[in-house]
Amino acid sequence: MLKLFLPKSLFVRAIIIVVAPVVLLQLVAAGVFYDRHLDTVTRRLARSVAADIGFVAAALTREKDDLARLHILQSANLRLNLAFSLIPGEKLKAGPLPRPYSPLENLLIRTIDEGMELAFNIENRTTEKHYLIKVAFEGGVLQVLVPRNRLASGTLLVLILWIVGSSLLLLAIAIMFLRNQVRPILRLADAADRFGQGQDVADFRPSGAVEVRRAGDAFLRMRDRLDRHIRQRTEMLAGVSHDLRTPLTRLKLELAMLRDIPAAAEMQGDVDEMEDMIEGYLAFARGAVGEQTVETDVNALLDEAVGDARRHGGAVEFTASGDLRGLLRPMSLRRCLDNLLGNAQRYAKHCSLAARRDGDTIEIIVDDDGPGVPEAEREAVFRPFYRLENSRNQGTGGVGLGLAIARDTVRNQGGDVMLDTAPQGGLRAIIRLPA
Ligand SMILES: Nc1ncnc2c1ncn2[C@@H]1O[C@H](COP(=O)(O)OP(=O)(O)OP(=O)(O)O)[C@@H](O)[C@H]1O
Ligand SMILES: [Mg+2]
Repeated sequence: MLKLFLPKSLFVRAIIIVVAPVVLLQLVAAGVFYDRHLDTVTRRLARSVAADIGFVAAALTREKDDLARLHILQSANLRLNLAFSLIPGEKLKAGPLPRPYSPLENLLIRTIDEGMELAFNIENRTTEKHYLIKVAFEGGVLQVLVPRNRLASGTLLVLILWIVGSSLLLLAIAIMFLRNQVRPILRLADAADRFGQGQDVADFRPSGAVEVRRAGDAFLRMRDRLDRHIRQRTEMLAGVSHDLRTPLTRLKLELAMLRDIPAAAEMQGDVDEMEDMIEGYLAFARGAVGEQTVETDVNALLDEAVGDARRHGGAVEFTASGDLRGLLRPMSLRRCLDNLLGNAQRYAKHCSLAARRDGDTIEIIVDDDGPGVPEAEREAVFRPFYRLENSRNQGTGGVGLGLAIARDTVRNQGGDVMLDTAPQGGLRAIIRLPA
């Protein structure tokens, strides 16, 4: 369940890991603070206002002389941050205490109520930022203006501002740092992707934290090992094929001179077959040598391949769809297509070619109306030199490398070739290429 709601990206997860505990801590701290500290402070402030008013009222009660009373009022106004005035004759409006705006104000009013010995009422003059307290006093009213700041500590707003402000600051710093931590991982993934599709990754340099750098170094070492491995294989194959050519040519010449011996004709056939095989080897070796990827118009490439096949007498149908372009190795793809079209021409009468884009892969389908390949053999025919009975019996002279080469060239670009049954009943070959 939790997995469903957790964000997928490392970046967001890391930010949550860093920011969430701090914000949570701040909220808990603020909650406790609000509950305890603010409560106490408000109570004390309210009590002190009540005590001040009580004190002034008591002093006034002791003095009957008007001048002395004026003195008391003046010095109270001067020192207590309250504005007292005596209004004789006014009657105190009795009634319930005003409805508080907030729990804090409620606490305030209740505390003043507790602290006051005289009858009073209180009025919140919000626009003027003070409370007006009227106390019953000797046939008149003692009116006190209490500035808001004598009753509210104002810490709550400051506290909230601090929490929000520091959280935002923390978030900004976390985003700044984490983005730099995630970027090298993305770059590594990107490089691995490109390498898998046969593109050049020479510009990749491991960077970032030690662990990410280690992964990057390991990737580079793996790339070098793979490159070395492929190069070694192809060089060996090319070397062997090349070296065999010379004695084979000599053998052909010698056979040509043995014209009157009947066995020589058969041997000639064998030697021709060997020559074909060696050509196949060389083609295979060439296919694996690193061709660079370039922006390729797949439709144009298919058109060329179809044209070539028709010139060789094949009945090929081609339906292009849309604009098919991508970073590909055109020569390799061409070799793959030639092999598939060659097979279709060899084992069937008609074939059709279609291409389309499916998301970020390009799909090329070669269908024919031949005998097809039985399902159990569809993996085996990709093996080098593997040929089915029909091919061997007809003496068509295939080497059995065509499909191996086709798959190799496409896999080098991160794609694959698969076999299926065509709607016409023959073989369907599907090339899928990321582009
Ligand atoms: N379109 C097809 N229809 C029927 N069978 C096929 C088709 N394509 C390939 N095969 C079978 O798969 C085998 C392997 O094909 P592959 O292209 O690798 O070799 P090949 O065609 O015999 O020789 P070459 O190296 O000259 O291409 C073939 O011998 C053939 O039996
Ligand atoms: Mg073939």
